[in-house]
Amino acid sequence: MLTKEENDALTQVGPGTPMGDVLRHYWYPVVMTRELNEFPIKQIRLLGENWAVFRTEEGNYGIVDERCPHRGASLVYGIVENDGLRCGYHGWKFDTDGQCVDILAEPDSSPKFREGCGVRSGSAQELGGMVWVYVGDGPVPELPRYEAYVMDGVRDIGHSMLPCNWLQIMENAVDPYHVEALHGNYFEFIAKWKNIPMPSAFGGNKHERVAFDPFEHGIIKRRLLVGQDEESDDWKIGHPLVFPYKMWVGGNGVFQMQIRVPVDDTHTYMIFYTVHAPEGGEIPENPPCIDYEYEWIEPDGTYIVDYIEGQDIMAWVTQGEIADRVNEKITKSDVGVIACRRMFKEQIDAVAEGRDPIAVMREPHDVIKLPLERSKFGRGAEFATEWIDNGSMKYSPQAEFMKKLHMDAQAARNELAGS
Ligand code: FES
Ligand SMILES: [Fe+2]
Repeated sequence: MLTKEENDALTQVGPGTPMGDVLRHYWYPVVMTRELNEFPIKQIRLLGENWAVFRTEEGNYGIVDERCPHRGASLVYGIVENDGLRCGYHGWKFDTDGQCVDILAEPDSSPKFREGCGVRSGSAQELGGMVWVYVGDGPVPELPRYEAYVMDGVRDIGHSMLPCNWLQIMENAVDPYHVEALHGNYFEFIAKWKNIPMPSAFGGNKHERVAFDPFEHGIIKRRLLVGQDEESDDWKIGHPLVFPYKMWVGGNGVFQMQIRVPVDDTHTYMIFYTVHAPEGGEIPENPPCIDYEYEWIEPDGTYIVDYIEGQDIMAWVTQGEIADRVNEKITKSDVGVIACRRMFKEQIDAVAEGRDPIAVMREPHDVIKLPLERSKFGRGAEFATEWIDNGSMKYSPQAEFMKKLHMDAQAARNELAGS
């Protein structure tokens, strides 16, 4: 339970707020590379502010405040040129650093005059099929090259905009008991009444012990299920909440970064970024990188709860636009949620004292590997195919192709083991 002030401090993401200051230390994926290839400019909203993200004809990416500094028209309706963006209204042109480099109606304007005419800008880069932006002040950190974005494999990116604050989704990342309740017991209930199958990997899991270990990128979550021993990957390795807006999860050839981009206080762009790379699987030479919107709500406003992430989304969104942490009842099984809030509070303090929060990368690097179970819930390849059938990936146009990749890989592994 928190006071209203504490809840506000943890959940508000706008400029000048304590958490907004923390969150402005990180890069965020805000648009798919594909989208800017199809049309080179898009409006995005991030941390409570509106921006225009664009790709120049030269292939560089930029992000500028949506409002033109001249008289305020939207730069989303500008002309993308080979080296910058020109406002559609009167033709002021800005480079990717936001400098005003030309005023159409005043060709003789001096560079000195134009210095005062720039637009606020951030930095933008492409990685792993998505365009990432940094909109904070100060020196721009490195874009972290987490394994998911750089590893070989078939990429499958499901995304949708959800009407709730990002923090309640992050709390779900350190809430192992919900897997037993929501994806186990509740799924069984829905499966029975709707006469649909449920994934066997999620039925009958009983948690014996859970643990949460802070580390340099967030919090490692570990679970011991009844019937497992301490050598199981679920306990020995676990998987992390990646501070401040991701979770790394997977197993059995599936690698998934769950990305919760804080759009504003009451909206989160929720991306399931999955790489399929089963051992023994044949990854095509130019592996596909497909993105699509997954569904989560019916036209009548009821939630779609017949798949894993749909159940999660129901829980996150029905908690309210911003979860009411004043009237909740936190108990000892919420120990992960408590650890998560503590970490966020500590990072607010660090930023207030002028330090970098955790997981801000200042050094160039090739890849950052995070802990992840290889064998999940003690299951084999059917864990992957069940996940595709019963997760957001069921909305993927390449669902059948991905399942075949996992089944063929299993067959190849079996053959190797038998020979
Ligand atoms: S409003 Fe953009 S150039 Fe005038
Ligand atoms: Fe879940």
